[in-house]
Amino acid sequence: MVAVWDLPVRAFHWLLVSTVAGAALTGFFARKSQLDVHVALGTFIAGLIVLRLIWGFTGSTYARWSSFVCGPATVLRYLWDLLLGRAGHHLGHNPLGGLMILILLVVLMALAFTGAIVLGGVLKEGPLAAFTSYATGRAVKEVHEALAFALLGLIGLHVAGVLVESLRTRENLARAMLTGSKTDSSIAAAAPAVHTRPWLAAGLAVVVLAGSAVSIAHLAALPARGLPTAALPADYVRECKACHAAHHPSLAAATTWQAIMSGLVDHFGENASLDPALVSKISGYLNANSAEHWDTTAANRLREPSAAEPLRITATHGWKRLHRKIPADLFSRTTVGGKLNCSNCHRDAEAGRFAPRAIAIPKEKSNP
Ligand code: HEC
Ligand code: HEC
Repeated sequence: MVAVWDLPVRAFHWLLVSTVAGAALTGFFARKSQLDVHVALGTFIAGLIVLRLIWGFTGSTYARWSSFVCGPATVLRYLWDLLLGRAGHHLGHNPLGGLMILILLVVLMALAFTGAIVLGGVLKEGPLAAFTSYATGRAVKEVHEALAFALLGLIGLHVAGVLVESLRTRENLARAMLTGSKTDSSIAAAAPAVHTRPWLAAGLAVVVLAGSAVSIAHLAALPARGLPTAALPADYVRECKACHAAHHPSLAAATTWQAIMSGLVDHFGENASLDPALVSKISGYLNANSAEHWDTTAANRLREPSAAEPLRITATHGWKRLHRKIPADLFSRTTVGGKLNCSNCHRDAEAGRFAPRAIAIPKEKSNP
C-alpha cells in the first residue's frame, strides 16, 4: 500500500463531485424561483477550487501541481504510448489525467464567473449587478449553458479515463480516491516527497476566502444597474388602483403609457378620466420611469408593445413568453384575479423587480 492522495485532495474531489452534481441538477431542472440553491452551490464550488489551487502549492507530493501538470509533449507522448499499449503506471495522475483536471477546473471557474455575470445582468444580484447590463447577462447565459454542456461531456471523458486506467493498471482508481492509497506494485519510483505545509495553506485560505467574501459583499451592496428603487407615488397608486393593480411604470414603453393616459375617457370600455392636472402629473411620472429607463428582466422583455393590442402589457410578446408555461386556469383563480394582478403572484411587483425568488402563485381558496 502506498499513500498517494492526502485527505484534503480526497475531500476536495468528493465534495466537488457532489456539489457539481447538485449545481447541474438545479441548473438544468430547478424552477427559476429555486435558483438560490444553484447560486449557493456555484459559490461553494468556486471557493472549493480556490482551496484546491492553494493546496496545489502547499499540499503533499501528489497534491502538487508540479507533480502532474506537464507540457503538451509529455501528454502527447503518453497518449501515444497508451495507444501502443506501453504506457507506464503513475502513482499520482498520469499526464492525460493531469490535463483533464486542469481543463475541468478551468471550465468550472469559467462557469462560476459566467454565472456571476448572468446573476448580475439578468437577476440584478450578486457582486456584478452594478456593472452588468441585462443584454450582457442574457448573452453570457448562452455561454454559461454551453459551458455546462461541455462540462457534462468532460465529466463523461474523465469517468471513461478513470475506467480505462483502472482496467489497464488493475487498480481501482475510484477506490484509491476514497482511501487515498494505491496497491500497484509495478509502479515506477515514487516522486520525491515534499514537505506539506498545512498552516501556510490554512493562512492563505483564510486570507483569500475572507478577502473575497468581503469584496463580494461590498460589490453586491452597490446599487444594481437599472433596478428601480423608488416607491410608486401616492397619486398614481390611488387613481389607478381604483380598478386594478397599479402597474410599475417599468412594465411598459413610454408610448404605451402616453396612449393610455391620453385615452382615459374610454379606457378598455371604462371611463377612467381624471383631472387634467393629475393626468399630466401621472403621465410625466410614467414617461420618466417607463421601461426604456430600466434594465430589469421585466423592462427589457415588456418594452416592445404588441401590434394588435398596443395598450396591453399582458399582450406583449415578452409577457406571453414569460408566462407560457402557466396554465390559463391559474389566472382565473379567485386568489389570483386575472393576469393583471401581477402582485398576487409576484410579491415584489410594486417595486418593479419581479425577481424569480419572489414568485408564489396563491392556492385557490377551498370552497366551504
Ligand atoms: C375605472 C376603472 C379603471 C381605472 C380607474 C383604471 N383602469 Fe386601467 N383598466 C381597466 C380595465 C377594465 C382594464 C381592462 C382589464 C382587462 O381586460 O382585464 C384596464 C387595463 C389597463 C391596462 C392594460 C393591462 C393589460 O396588460 O392587459 C393598463 C396598462 C392600465 N389599465 C393602466 C391604467 C392606468 C395607468 C390607470 C391610472 C391612470 C388605470 N389603468 C386606471 C380599468 C381601469
Ligand atoms: C398566476 C400568477 C402570475 C401572475 C398574475 C403574473 N405572473 Fe409573472 N410570472 C409568474 C410565474 C410563475 C413566472 C415564472 C415562469 C417560469 O418559471 O418560467 C412569472 C414570470 C414573470 C417574469 C419573469 C421573471 C424572471 O426573471 O424570470 C416577469 C417579468 C413577470 N412574470 C411579469 C409579470 C407581470 C408584469 C404581471 C402582471 C401584468 C405578471 N407577471 C402576472 C406568475 C404570474
